[in-house]
Amino acid sequence: MFDIRLSAAAGLLLVFAAPSANAAPDWSKVPKRDIQVFHAGVTPIEWATKKANHSGSVGLRKGESCAGCHEEKGALNFDMKRLADKELEPVGAPKTMSFPVGVQAAYDKDHLYLRVSFKPPADAAAAAPREDKDPKHDVKVAVMFLNGKVPEADKVGCWATCHADARSMPDAKPDKKKYVTGANLAGGVFADYIQWKSGAGGKGALFLDGHVAAERVNKDGKALVKAEGENKGGAYTVTFTRKLTGGEGDVAMGEGQVIPFGIAIHTDKTVYRFHHVSLGYTLGLGAKADVVAAKN
Ligand code: HEC
Repeated sequence: MFDIRLSAAAGLLLVFAAPSANAAPDWSKVPKRDIQVFHAGVTPIEWATKKANHSGSVGLRKGESCAGCHEEKGALNFDMKRLADKELEPVGAPKTMSFPVGVQAAYDKDHLYLRVSFKPPADAAAAAPREDKDPKHDVKVAVMFLNGKVPEADKVGCWATCHADARSMPDAKPDKKKYVTGANLAGGVFADYIQWKSGAGGKGALFLDGHVAAERVNKDGKALVKAEGENKGGAYTVTFTRKLTGGEGDVAMGEGQVIPFGIAIHTDKTVYRFHHVSLGYTLGLGAKADVVAAKN
């Protein structure tokens, strides 16, 4: 009997010692793509697609993407003064209107590993709504993957979920959340959504796996395994480990696929639209894209 136990234990050790197909990559070897996130003020999709507000709406209709027009040599060409001014930001813009986020990705047969690193500014406008009470988070990092059936998913990124009547927009209802026009969760018209939250002072970190369809739901996702963050002297690194496929509301990913995504970072304890957000980019699993996930 003793012998049997011993050999069972030895067998177990062997299993653990075998090289694992499911381990995070050596990040020092994974290329980093810098993506700028910015304070977008009140520029929901209704604003961006209306010619009277935004001449870019014409190019957008012809098939150009937000990033195609607004990212030049890794920088954003926005008029930040205009974005910080009363018309587009009636409440108050942060001092730092944009900052770079390093994005790295890798995948293996079961998982996607996504790592974002950045130094969040702590200078949100005093008037911006905050989570000063419990639960409070110094920093929150969200990644949205847009399912292929969302109209213009590959061009507009998170703007597909950002509407003029969402809470914290001027004159909007306080309980109205993000949504996708023509949402159909079972039919694939949704955005997948994962978020890491730091907790106060980095303590009590947590993460969630949700989606945005008819409204934003902060749970029910089955793909996110974990999200881990660290704050080293104000420089944050957050790593998401996600199964390639999950359940309803999880974008199914596979080798060779290109997935539209965006990033939103709440700094300085802000909430709602008071984040710095990226334009829409693409993630390729071993395929050509803005961020190429290498096979691990
Ligand atoms: C065909 C090129 C083009 C496309 C595509 C485009 N834009 Fe623009 N965008 C412009 C131009 C030109 C301006 C400045 C003039 C104006 O506002 O009409 C501008 C202005 C803006 C501004 C205001 C700040 C500023 O610099 O004036 C924001 C915010 C903005 N665009 C966001 C977006 C978003 C979000 C998308 C995608 C949903 C997008 N743009 C797509 C060309 C484009």
